[in-house]
Amino acid sequence: MIIKTDTEREGMRRAGRLLGEVLRDVAAHATAGTSTLELNDRAEALIRAGGASPVFLNYVAEGARTPYPATLCTSVNDEVVHGIPLSKMVLKDGDIISLDCGLSLDGFVSDSAVSVVVGKGSEADAALLEGTRKALAAGIAAARAGNTTGDIGHAIEEVAKRYKLTVVRDLGGHGTGKLLHEAPYIANFGAKGSGERLVDGMVLALEPIFTHGSGAIKLGGDGWTYLTRDHSHAAHFEHTIIVGAHGSEIVTK
Ligand code: MF3
Ligand code: CO
Repeated sequence: MIIKTDTEREGMRRAGRLLGEVLRDVAAHATAGTSTLELNDRAEALIRAGGASPVFLNYVAEGARTPYPATLCTSVNDEVVHGIPLSKMVLKDGDIISLDCGLSLDGFVSDSAVSVVVGKGSEADAALLEGTRKALAAGIAAARAGNTTGDIGHAIEEVAKRYKLTVVRDLGGHGTGKLLHEAPYIANFGAKGSGERLVDGMVLALEPIFTHGSGAIKLGGDGWTYLTRDHSHAAHFEHTIIVGAHGSEIVTK
């Protein structure tokens, strides 16, 4: 969507703030012995308590055989995105997990993800998380009116190179705000000045996804979970932002 009024801006801020609170809570509970289904159920309860509704639950994606069955995506280790929460998927020390969630509040949709390590992880995974988080910050810094989607992708890719990490090229960011997925698509790589021009008020979800490995992915047997082909770990950070003339406002802080 493109924000036109203060009322819309306030609506996006409320939808973003609630999601930020939900993810902070869920991330703090991603401890050894906790199942990913417990994390999902926390997220769903907090969303509903905030007067919002989950937007991933029953989401029908192009090409998917079944609607997405949960509120939260929980992608552990070599799972890249869209991992389905399960009672038998119990976190253990050293795992890394991406927690991705979206909600709708008064018709405003926000989408955000964080990756965290469970207990004390490896140094390599700490660098993977740091590089991916910094890439999101760099992408956000490049998102201002007059720049292009390629400027965002380029900024994200530069951070991957600096950290010797690989961009998962098959996945990317997107417009959001009214619907979960809107135009434009935002690749996590690209040439400066290429792609679509960003305009004041555009609501975008930027989401770099990096790995240690080749970056090639495959779809798992559940029809939703993407995994790295080489089993290397993946990290994912996402914020919903409002593009402005001089920079962007992060709404999912
Ligand atoms: N942040 C993810 C995305 O933009 C979440 C989608 S999960 C789905 O693709 F179930 F809703 F598809
Ligand atoms: Co998204």
